[in-house]
Amino acid sequence: MVTATDRNLEYLKLDQTYVNQVLARTAKIVAEKAKGSYIYDMNGDAYLDFATGIAVNNVGHCHPKVVEAVQKQAAELMHTSVTTYHKRYIELCQKLAQIAPTKKLNSSFLANSGAEAVEGAVKLAKYVTGRPVIVNFRGSFHGRTLMTTALTTSKLSYREKYEPLPGNIYTVPFPYTYRSAFRGNEKACVDECLHQIDMMFKQLVHPEQVAAFLIEPVQGEGGYVPAPNGYLQELRKITEKYGILLIADEVQTGFGRTGKMFAIEHSQVEPDVMLMAKGMGGGMPISGFISRKELTDKWLPGRHGTTFGGNPVSCAAALATIDVIESENLPARAEALGKHMLERLKKNLASCKSVGDIRGIGLMIGIEFQNADGSPSHDLAEAVLNKALEKKLLLLTCGSHGHVLRLIPPLNMSDEEATQGMDILEQSIAEVCK
Ligand SMILES: Cc1ncc(COP(=O)(O)O)c(C=O)c1O
Repeated sequence: MVTATDRNLEYLKLDQTYVNQVLARTAKIVAEKAKGSYIYDMNGDAYLDFATGIAVNNVGHCHPKVVEAVQKQAAELMHTSVTTYHKRYIELCQKLAQIAPTKKLNSSFLANSGAEAVEGAVKLAKYVTGRPVIVNFRGSFHGRTLMTTALTTSKLSYREKYEPLPGNIYTVPFPYTYRSAFRGNEKACVDECLHQIDMMFKQLVHPEQVAAFLIEPVQGEGGYVPAPNGYLQELRKITEKYGILLIADEVQTGFGRTGKMFAIEHSQVEPDVMLMAKGMGGGMPISGFISRKELTDKWLPGRHGTTFGGNPVSCAAALATIDVIESENLPARAEALGKHMLERLKKNLASCKSVGDIRGIGLMIGIEFQNADGSPSHDLAEAVLNKALEKKLLLLTCGSHGHVLRLIPPLNMSDEEATQGMDILEQSIAEVCK
């Protein structure tokens, strides 16, 4: 926490002067170093990290194998871009084909950020189908470039004042049962959402104009809402019927986070394109999208590209990160620890009227706060986040009202660390929601 003798202060002041304040930071501490599940500020105070740089540090901070791979690669080759081929790019694309949810996904393009992966996948979908329209979902988040802003509907503040945004985007409801008219009846919510797709095809746009549906298997910024059982399967049937591509945005859900390497595996649905970023590089910036070779072969060389995407150092980091995820069996760890945490929180918070819903899959857990009248409560979520920060636990919010606390710890967090985090969280909730 910031005090008069705080060594963070000097930098926080410089930040105010020199940094564009559009970049909103959550915790008012200046990170100096990090290791495993902890971030250390300028005073050397340790913060337990349940935020992982927005779902990035799946293997913990500065995992030794990732650090070693980065250091070695940096000394050998840092950058060539498309002026040459380089082996790490090729090795990483081969690895992505091996870990993809289906063998049909076997041809990758690498980029730098989640938004850039979304942009590329949308261009691929439009190019190969010759169709102009993308369908997205209410509550979705896909990035901050103009196209991905247009595809984002999780919160008004991401879109407001940026109009006109790119067009030919149609938005259908996501089956967020808890905040729908069908609370407690997932099946009815799913049926209604499917009906809305049907109505869109009758009233708004012909299905043969649609290049792709773009969906997060678990909505992230939208409030940590897993797609209910059966929904993705039905969506797959609809897209197949009309020759529409299904793009799974696994930017936040990927790389073991939900208990499988990719969240779409829970439904056994095979997407046509899958987007990856965040957890992919163990903290280094890298993203990508993988598709079917017969589709990507229709995209002619030079129709898309990048200077930095698939940089050798980031590729080496991603290869090492995937190796850690596999060798430490982190998807299984995420499943087991996530189940334990969800059960504990559900039990211990059952009588707390300020907590409306606790949901999640693997180590992607959301706690939804509500006011006495049941409406979403940003203030409570924010107050709990600040209280936990005082106790040195880092959290993030999400949801349309910023009313959901998300728990996204490293997948290799120890049992003791997880217990410590949940103790702090429950104490903070008890103090705020008296
Ligand atoms: C599902 C999803 N897609 C895309 C993005 C955009 O990623 P980036 O911030 O790396 O551009 C995010 C970022 O939070 C995300 O959660």
